Order: sequence, then structure tokens, then C-alpha cells
Amino acid sequence: MKTLTIQPADSLRGDVTVPGDKSISHRAVMFGAVARGTTRVEGFLPGADCLSTISCFRRMGVAIEQESETVVTVHGRGWEGLTEPESFLDVGNSGTTIRLMLGILAGLPFYSAVIGDESIARRPMDRVVDPLRQMGAWIEGRKNGSFTPLGIRGGNLEGVEHVSPVASAQVKSCLLLAGLQADGVTRIREPHRSRDHTERMLPAFGVELTREEGGVSLRGGQQLSGRDVRVPGDISSAAFLIAAALIVPGSRVTIRNVGLNPTRTGILDTFREMGGAVEVEETGEWTGEPVGDITVTASSLRGVEVKGDRIPRLIDEIPILAVVATQADGPTVIRDAAELKVKETNRISVTAQELRRLGAVVEETPDGLIIKGRTPLTGDRCDSHGDHRIGMAAAVAGLIADGGVSVSRAGAIDVSFPGFFETLNRLAHR
Ligand code: S3P
Repeated sequence: MKTLTIQPADSLRGDVTVPGDKSISHRAVMFGAVARGTTRVEGFLPGADCLSTISCFRRMGVAIEQESETVVTVHGRGWEGLTEPESFLDVGNSGTTIRLMLGILAGLPFYSAVIGDESIARRPMDRVVDPLRQMGAWIEGRKNGSFTPLGIRGGNLEGVEHVSPVASAQVKSCLLLAGLQADGVTRIREPHRSRDHTERMLPAFGVELTREEGGVSLRGGQQLSGRDVRVPGDISSAAFLIAAALIVPGSRVTIRNVGLNPTRTGILDTFREMGGAVEVEETGEWTGEPVGDITVTASSLRGVEVKGDRIPRLIDEIPILAVVATQADGPTVIRDAAELKVKETNRISVTAQELRRLGAVVEETPDGLIIKGRTPLTGDRCDSHGDHRIGMAAAVAGLIADGGVSVSRAGAIDVSFPGFFETLNRLAHR
């Protein structure tokens, strides 16, 4: 078990990039695997989650070469190029892999057994299993198919109209991938717009889809054509460095080539509302995704209320937002975020638990957190609980906590940000 210690910093200064976007890396490999032709992915995130996606599709007979850590070539042979795996499809810790892959498997006429780690085994799969069954897929699993291990045999799907009770890009993307293989139209509606990487990338692979008020629809029977994808830096990874630069006095950091998709930039809006000096310069568009440079200067901050349609736009950033909130004037209130309970860990209780170890005053609510502002943090040992974003949030707290923070089970960070500690230490002046 890896433990890493982060010591307080006097300031953070410099110019860095972050690893490729996790959501976009998964999709580029998956869409490439079911497309006809070659898909070369540049800027691929070589984190454990995206490597799980590669290994699952290799097991279904797709040739995938890793030219280097960040350049991957997928040789797709269309939907029918995928073959029955001879052993388990193991998604590891990756919710995106399992939910999107189930949408692909739902249309394919063979049997697969899908497993993951202990965290995946606690995460609800009924949100995709129920509508996929309604479309005609056979799926069985623990607790009537709500949890892994799952067995699935696909084929003969009918389009569906699905109103999702949660704003989830994983549900939406899963059903769009199944819908592409179904007879007729598939339409998905969601209460707030979740990240739209699938809606942006599918057309780049030649798919016709219609974006509608509150949802998206497409017609089945469409083939994808392989193409090159350039993956921007992950704003969810950049968020940890932005947060660090905001709360360590005297800091100024630029992060280059970060994805600026508006369904993901809720954290930038929120940091600005808190008084954070966050400047964004858009520099271009990579495979339908806006990209730019973010420059952050240490700022004095005030607490905010975050709720409603802002939540899906920063859902993965709430643990680090909570760390920043401990340094703002006045309380920060996070509501409408019950989805946090079914992430890699229950991020409401784990964020509260780890921040309290450092002296923060945090109240858990049924759908969020209330964080008391302006609280000096005292160093201690924190636990990632095997959750990459909790590990990184604790490490950033270490930059301002008296005596530093030791993060146990820090290996989890490799899920989304390999090289995180090296990047942080490169920026830190002590
Ligand atoms: C993701 C969607 C989000 C997010 C996850 C990645 C994706 O989950 O939390 O880290 O790539 O589609 P939900 O769609 O379940 O909210």
C-alpha cells in the first residue's frame, strides 16, 4: 500500500499540462473499437480506468496498439468485428467502462461476464440494466442485475424512450450506444444536462443524432467510421492544481491545453463566484471539444451555494471544492448532490471524514455538504479510501496543512492522474 506525504508549500508557480481527459479517452477507444477503420488517439490518458477499457475491448478481439503511453491506435472492424470474450471482462474501478460497455454489449449476439473491483460491486447498475432489458437485452447479475458480477447476452434491440431520473452521462451514453444497434429511434431525457462528450464525438465518427431540449435522440442501424481523435487535458485533473494555486498564497500557475467543454466547467464558474482569479484563454477546438489555457492566481475567497444544474457540471470536483471552501470567508453549501454517494466511494461521507481529520468543520446533509469557512488545517494522515479524487483532495490540503498530509492508498490516484505528485511537487516552492 503506497503512502505519499505532501508538505506545505510557500507558493505554487509554473506552467504545466495535465493528462488527457478520462471521459474522452474512454469514448475514443470504445467508438474506435466499434467503428470501421482505424482510430488513432493522441493524448490518451494512460490511467488505470482507461487501460481497463483497452483490455476489455482487446478481449473481444479488437486490435488495439499502444504506440506510446499516450498514443493508441484502434483497428475497428465495425460492430460485428467484436467477438465473444473467452474470459471475464474486468472493468477494474471504472464506472464509465462498465456502463458504456454494457450499451455496446447489449446489441451484440454473444455472452459476456462483466466484473470489477470492490468499489464497482457497490455501484448501482440498475440505472442502465433496466432500460437495456426494456430494449431487449438479456442481463442477469447480483441482486436481480443491480450489481456486478453481471452476465449479458445482447441482440435484437428495440429503440426506447427513456426518462432518466438522474443526470448521468454514463446512462445517456450507454443507451445511445445500444440505440445505435436497435430498430427504430432511441430517445433519452435527463433532468439536467450531463456532460455531452458522446453527443460531440459520435457525429465525428459519422453518426447522425439530434440534440433536443432536455435530451438527445438517434436512429438505430448506424455504422461508425474510424477517425483520429486528439484528447485535451482533463479539466477534472486540472481542478486540483487550480484549487492548489487558489489557496496557497503567492501562487500563479498556468495549465495548458485543458478541455473547456461547458458541461464540465462548473468548477471554473464556482471558483470565480468565490472570488478566485481564474483566467481562461480558449485556443482552439480538438475533435469538437473546446480547448484552452487556464491561469490561476492565489485569491481571497468567499463561501458559495452550489446546487441544481451546476451540480452535474462539477460533480467530480466536489471533494476538491470542499477543500477550497475550508479557506473561504463564510460557509459553502452544496445541495442536490446525492449522486456523490454512488461514486467510487460515498464522496459525501468520505470527503467530510477526511477533512475533519485535518480540523475542518464539515456537516454532511442527505444531498450534500456544508463546510465552515476560514479554518486552519492541521496536518495528519488521510486515507484515499481507494478513491483517486479523495486522495488528490487530501494531498492538496497537505499544501496548506500545518505539518503536511500523508495520503495512504495513494496508488488510487493513478486511475485518473498518473504523475500527480510529481506535477504538484514541480510547481511547489518550499
Ligand atoms: C462520466 C460521467 C460522470 C462522472 C464520471 C465520468 C463519463 O458520471 O462522474 O467520472 O465519462 O460519462 P455519471 O454520468 O454517472 O454522473
